Amino acid sequence: MKYGTYLIFGAPGSGKGTQGKILGAIPRFFHCACGDVFRSLDTRTPLGKAFLEYSSRGELVPDEMTVRLWMAVIGDMVGMRKFKPDIDSLVLDGIPRNVHQAEIMQDILDVKRVFHLSCPDRDALVARLKKRALKENRFDDANEETIRRRLVTYELESKPVLEFYGVNKIVDIDATQLPVKVTHDILTAILAS
Ligand code: AP5
Repeated sequence: MKYGTYLIFGAPGSGKGTQGKILGAIPRFFHCACGDVFRSLDTRTPLGKAFLEYSSRGELVPDEMTVRLWMAVIGDMVGMRKFKPDIDSLVLDGIPRNVHQAEIMQDILDVKRVFHLSCPDRDALVARLKKRALKENRFDDANEETIRRRLVTYELESKPVLEFYGVNKIVDIDATQLPVKVTHDILTAILAS
């Protein structure tokens, strides 16, 4: 059985985590953020070390280990009945993050919509992440150079995922609006689908 899925997609700082958490608080939606999965790892394990190494350079963790980890986590969630694939929609943020990951996950995910949180003003994203760095202890927000590298990684490796899913599944959302308006636009699109 494929998981009925909504993808929250966008550049670093576009608000994927913010919106994912809101949707995940609604019954029948289960939110899973790949970055949170990585951040929950013990940094002494090989996978935890790999995450530190790649993310501190603003790069993606290699695909096979990422998807294997993600599948194990989702499998655990299904096993614990936290995520009930027969009645829940999966809300993913941060994965799939490149076309190769999308291909690997094609047999597992039934992607209903891809919400593209669009913010062409990259300086606005950098400003958001610098502000977040003051509140949350995210080492990959610690300096502007790493933030800018994550933005380049997004352009080169992640953005082609939009073409992979095709225009019919993409819903462009203006990520510069108030968070509540972004949520409104996402929910409107879900209810219309
Ligand atoms: P990840 O945790 O996914 O980081 P990211 O994509 O860089 O995204 P962020 O968490 O920085 O931003 P966000 O879009 O969630 O924004 P947020 O809601 O927090 O990944 C981290 C690293 O892990 C990667 O670099 C990579 O190394 C590795 N990784 C993860 N997944 C991987 C994968 N699949 N494959 C390989 N490697 C992977 O919002 C940002 C700030 O803006 C917040 O302070 C928020 O309050 C504010 N904000 C949000 N919305 C608004 C709004 N509408 N108006 C004003 N402020 C807003």
